[in-house]
Amino acid sequence: MFDIEHERPEHAAAIDALLDLSFGPGRYAKTAQRLREGNIAVPELCYVAFMGEGAERRLIGSLSFWPVNIGGVDGLMLGPLAVEPALRGQGAGINMMRRGLADAKALGYKLVILVGDEPYYVKVGFGPVPPGRLTMPGPVDPSRLLYRELDLGAFGHAHGAITKPLPAKEEAAVQAMSKSI
Ligand SMILES: CC(C)(COP(=O)(O)OP(=O)(O)OC[C@H]1O[C@@H](n2cnc3c(N)ncnc32)[C@H](O)[C@@H]1OP(=O)(O)O)[C@@H](O)C(=O)NCCC(=O)NCCS
Repeated sequence: MFDIEHERPEHAAAIDALLDLSFGPGRYAKTAQRLREGNIAVPELCYVAFMGEGAERRLIGSLSFWPVNIGGVDGLMLGPLAVEPALRGQGAGINMMRRGLADAKALGYKLVILVGDEPYYVKVGFGPVPPGRLTMPGPVDPSRLLYRELDLGAFGHAHGAITKPLPAKEEAAVQAMSKSI
């Protein structure tokens, strides 16, 4: 029905159009966007879904993962995820996520968070972050902040702020400080 490929630069315009259609202009105002600004999605974990043959072939889905620090654990934020409205409900979303989560695990990532509907993301193993355990850099409905471990026990080390990845220098200082405490 559809196939999943890694995103390439020539897909950018079609992805942008799909995200505008799926999320509307408010997409840049979401709290999750604050973790994307000035950050770079992991190229090996950006996917597109294509459907159709020959001249009919077109991009119908998109998914990216972003590096974030999850309360002290280097991990990923999943999203945005979008599928063309007319082609939803055929498994493109779930299949892109399964592929991405398997690749992320193979790359050594241990923990993934996202902001989204639990009844959907539970299908690929996400569950709710306990209230107060992690904070996003802005307002988020706490019941929509979800996590999934790629490495059993990784969530146990995650407490506090979800931020963009810490610069190497800052990270070294934080580690040195935590060792000296
Ligand atoms: C969410 C989205 C990516 C799902 O893509 P999709 O390709 O239709 O999803 P799949 O076909 O893989 O999965 C469909 C299943 O998930 C369910 N589902 C889809 N969205 C859901 C939601 N928000 N809450 C609960 N279940 C949902 C469907 O009912 C269906 O269930 P079934 O398999 O039991 O019939 C798509 O609806 C979309 O692009 N929405 C607009 C953008 C968006 O909201 N993205 C997510 C941001 S949090």
